[in-house]
Amino acid sequence: MILVTGATGSIGRHLVRRLDELRAPFKALVRDAAKGRALGCPYVVGDFDDPDSIAAALIGVDRVLLNGPGATPTADGGPQPMVAQQRTLIDAAGRAGVRRIVKVSVWRAQQGGRLAQGAHWDIEQHLKASGIEWALLQPSGYMQNFLTGAGTFSADGSLIAPAHDAPVSYVDCRDIAACAAVLLTEPRGAGATFILTGPEALTMAEIAGHLSETLDKPVHVVTLSPDDMTERLTEQGLPRRFATDVAHLWSDVGTGSLTATTPEVENLTGHKPRAFTDFLTTNRAAFG
Ligand SMILES: NC(=O)c1ccc[n+]([C@@H]2O[C@H](COP(=O)([O-])OP(=O)(O)OC[C@H]3O[C@@H](n4cnc5c(N)ncnc54)[C@H](OP(=O)(O)O)[C@@H]3O)[C@@H](O)[C@H]2O)c1
Repeated sequence: MILVTGATGSIGRHLVRRLDELRAPFKALVRDAAKGRALGCPYVVGDFDDPDSIAAALIGVDRVLLNGPGATPTADGGPQPMVAQQRTLIDAAGRAGVRRIVKVSVWRAQQGGRLAQGAHWDIEQHLKASGIEWALLQPSGYMQNFLTGAGTFSADGSLIAPAHDAPVSYVDCRDIAACAAVLLTEPRGAGATFILTGPEALTMAEIAGHLSETLDKPVHVVTLSPDDMTERLTEQGLPRRFATDVAHLWSDVGTGSLTATTPEVENLTGHKPRAFTDFLTTNRAAFG
């Protein structure tokens, strides 16, 4: 039995469909029963912040997709909640006899890194020390960020780019889910880390071009320095320290830290990763 956490999220919603297609026994972890019913698959209600609910959800489970929220503002830049949340699940999984955990991490996870980069590194170390078989997915930026907004659009619908607009190898969450499904249903990948990217790297100017064409309206790019980005996020109500960290990570991306492409999606799934133009065509209606 597989437990899919983050089942209502950008990867999870595709993963539950894929596991259903594969007829693999699974249940989704949801915080809200109504969301579980909407997923239309077996589900269990639980919350990373409620260890008893996680222990109960893990009964009869032998494989887990570990995925949850990204970085959030914390008081005085304290530890990211995801660290305690995911450690709770890993510890409970150890007690429940889970055999394998497939964790969604982030590309460039590193010790002492800002926000998600440092938090995921901490969780990765905890998982590696747990004695449970593991596989790590380290994706590039998600194409789905352009659907959720996720800091990519300004109020007037323009795209925001760092001063140096290096290309990013955005990956479709459907492909991340397909990779996770392989690792949850086959023996491959024990103790391996997979950097997952799309087939090509695109600048914000190129993304704007694709969006303009698909939406049949001009989409402009606004270039911001890290300081300008920090101010903009602070004006939107985010704490200054969090805003500064986000702006620095974003400016790192502008130096090309997420530009490379890898063959991992095709190696794992047997199909080429989806291109950004495929993503736009599939999700055209969601852009309004
Ligand atoms: N966005 C990117 O470009 C990118 C790139 C690389 C890695 N990542 C990583 O990908 C992961 C997912 O990020 P995302 O933004 O795409 O989020 P997401 O998966 O779309 O949403 C978060 C999921 O976690 C669930 N969740 C939230 N709090 C929970 C709790 N206390 N207990 C149990 N479940 C909880 C949410 O359920 P509800 O429906 O109940 O809220 C939702 O299903 C993050 O770890 C992030 O660091 C993101």
